[in-house]
Amino acid sequence: MSHTAAQLFSPLRIKDITLRNRIGVPPMCQYSAVDGFINDWHRVHLSGLARGGAGLVVVEATAVAPEGRISPGCTGLWNDRQAEAFRPVVASIESAGAVPGLQIAHAGRKASANRPWEGDDHLPEGDPRAWPTMAPSPVAFGANLPRVPREMTLDDIARVKSDFVAAAIRARDVGFRWLELHFAHGYLAQSFFSVHSNQRRDAYGGSLENRCRFLLETLEAVREVWPERLPLTARFGVIEFDGRDEETLAESIQLARWLKERGLDLLSVSIGFSTPEAKIPWAPAFLVPIAGRVRRETGLLIASSWGIDHPRLAEEAVASGNLDQVLVGRAHLANPHWPYHAAMELKVPRAAWTLPAPYAHWLERYRS
Ligand SMILES: Cc1cc2nc3c(=O)[nH]c(=O)nc-3n(C[C@H](O)[C@H](O)[C@H](O)COP(=O)(O)O)c2cc1C
Repeated sequence: MSHTAAQLFSPLRIKDITLRNRIGVPPMCQYSAVDGFINDWHRVHLSGLARGGAGLVVVEATAVAPEGRISPGCTGLWNDRQAEAFRPVVASIESAGAVPGLQIAHAGRKASANRPWEGDDHLPEGDPRAWPTMAPSPVAFGANLPRVPREMTLDDIARVKSDFVAAAIRARDVGFRWLELHFAHGYLAQSFFSVHSNQRRDAYGGSLENRCRFLLETLEAVREVWPERLPLTARFGVIEFDGRDEETLAESIQLARWLKERGLDLLSVSIGFSTPEAKIPWAPAFLVPIAGRVRRETGLLIASSWGIDHPRLAEEAVASGNLDQVLVGRAHLANPHWPYHAAMELKVPRAAWTLPAPYAHWLERYRS
């Protein structure tokens, strides 16, 4: 059998972290927590994914405050008891050879929603599980998320920034070695950036600089407490597919440069999801060339996802110089050993060794 030197399986070193390959499991909400506590479901789910061979496993969007959860089933990190519950999860990812990462988040005007499979909409007003939402401006997302949020005061803004810092400290103290700030998908941070949701007239709205202020200040504050030798990353929606794409991309690239100046180590390029009117051109790996442009114009390390579910698409995304890391989401849910199958497909020598020895030994030994 001929072997190729797959770029997808080359290690990626960032500061003191070496990822064993370019495959990452992106954060994927399980909507299965109670009172923000991560539990056995998450531990088994995440350790299974780590065993499958990805270099990085990022734990789902974890709220920095109770009102910042997307749904009542989201994980949280606003108290120390919640933090303790993360320890076995971190250990299970680490023991399988993946770097344990965490995404910390505030859902803003998209908070207080049902689980996706129970409606994917706001909990009705008056539902005992619902809570009031807040955002830069009192503008609802619309469509399935009609609730009008309260406009945040300057005190609210300061409090949420310190909630991000407190969550980052807890993440650090329970052993996470990779932190991702959730600045994407129409949640709180993205809604400060987006003109769809930010109509403020103070220092946090209007000009590009002002719309970036919350994101930049949050990153700066977290950088002070997150160890310098560990990667601090962010996920951001660089494009909305709302008809203003060139302008949004140019603004996003400027934001990415400012984040880089303030210590961002990698940007996970995603979609804004700031308006239900977006016309997203879904296709396999469709975001890769856009992520590549951000990579070239910022010099940042770039990860991205969305339909990069075939090993050859993933290999091409790295080999073409568009991505440094490929995030494989739903394909990992369908097949937690996706990296092993990718290694086989790409004819990586000893592909089985992407799996732990108790599996790999037998697959290698009896391979025809
Ligand atoms: C079940 C599920 C939960 C998700 N939760 C999150 C999340 O917590 N944070 C986030 O940034 N993206 C989330 N996403 C988006 C994924 O991280 C990923 O970007 C998306 O699924 C596209 O990649 P894919 O085509 O490989 O699945 C979620 C996606 C799925 C399917």
